[in-house]
Amino acid sequence: MQVNLHETWQIGPVEIPSRLVLAPMAGVSVQAFRRQGRRFGAGLVCSEMVSCAGLQHGNERTLGYLRIAADERPLAVQIFGSDPAVMAEAAAMVEAAGADIVDINFGCPVKKVTKTGAGATLLDEPDRACRVVEAVASAVSVPVTVKLRRGLENGSRACLSVGPRLVEAGAASLTLHPRSAKQMYTGTADHALTAELVSLVDVPVVASGDITARARAKTVLATTGAAAVMVGRAAQGNPWALREILEGEGVEPSREEVVAELILFMRETVRELGEHRATGFLKKFYGWYLGRGRFPRAFKAELTQLPTIAEVEARLFAAVPGARFPLARLEEDLPQSDEVLLDLPISIYGGG
Ligand SMILES: Cc1cc2nc3c(=O)[nH]c(=O)nc-3n(C[C@H](O)[C@H](O)[C@H](O)COP(=O)(O)O)c2cc1C
Repeated sequence: MQVNLHETWQIGPVEIPSRLVLAPMAGVSVQAFRRQGRRFGAGLVCSEMVSCAGLQHGNERTLGYLRIAADERPLAVQIFGSDPAVMAEAAAMVEAAGADIVDINFGCPVKKVTKTGAGATLLDEPDRACRVVEAVASAVSVPVTVKLRRGLENGSRACLSVGPRLVEAGAASLTLHPRSAKQMYTGTADHALTAELVSLVDVPVVASGDITARARAKTVLATTGAAAVMVGRAAQGNPWALREILEGEGVEPSREEVVAELILFMRETVRELGEHRATGFLKKFYGWYLGRGRFPRAFKAELTQLPTIAEVEARLFAAVPGARFPLARLEEDLPQSDEVLLDLPISIYGGG
């Protein structure tokens, strides 16, 4: 079966220009990550999960800042919580901030979230889950989507009974990560379940889990009937994976390109999170960008020890002076900051 990843598809009235979606990832999906994802071909990007209670209280300590820039749209903002009224209120704030889609997290397996009755726990409470979707869908005019896991326990098929009910309650699309919450990120994503879900609902389904290369993406699209594939871990520090999946261009980036993308990412993240928060936040990205055999292990380790981002940048330029040229080109091509539409607080922890 021929699969065209460049096909446009829709969630409600929102047009999505490719069948590749960048996954929401807590502690990863900052604006720099989302803008980069769009540049490398993702048709839709998503914020990390945002606490609806955090939005309601505007708590600066647990909240970061979400900026929605023109060049990251279409953009979904994901919220989590278990109280329908609070979720509805949060959704209205997200819509007002300029999100094209409000996504609801029914997949997070992390205790901190599930013990509050939110995330994947809602798969065991389908009535409440439906009330959440109904409340959110009636609070906003943009499409409401849901991201879910297969269920709580290993082997669970809860997504197949809950999914169609969520669609009845107003979900315009479902994303399935077919692992159980108990599995966390171990084992494999069972996309046979994605195919079953596709056959049960008449809204687009997005397949999430273990999509790391073009061949896998095409197989999952062809065998499940999903509208799109979602890519998460494979794109961490590696936007070239998105290009490979979309275009089939499996060319390893040069050291200059890698360092230019990393420094752009660092600069944008400092603007977004501030120097202090960005310093710790960025450490994992050094390994992600410079790993995959691109740079020696000792170099990555050295960068994580440097106390300031300015020193990391200087060290990177000293190692790869030629990175200045591709970096200048990238910065030139970025839209001006007046294209940033709005700031909104978001939380920083989670999963799904
Ligand atoms: C670090 C990390 C954070 C995540 N945070 C979220 C999140 O905030 N919301 C969500 O729905 N899923 C979250 N996920 C799950 C991913 O969106 C995705 O479904 C999962 O990683 C499987 O896809 P992959 O194999 O392409 O990584 C997270 C995953 C990781 C690895």
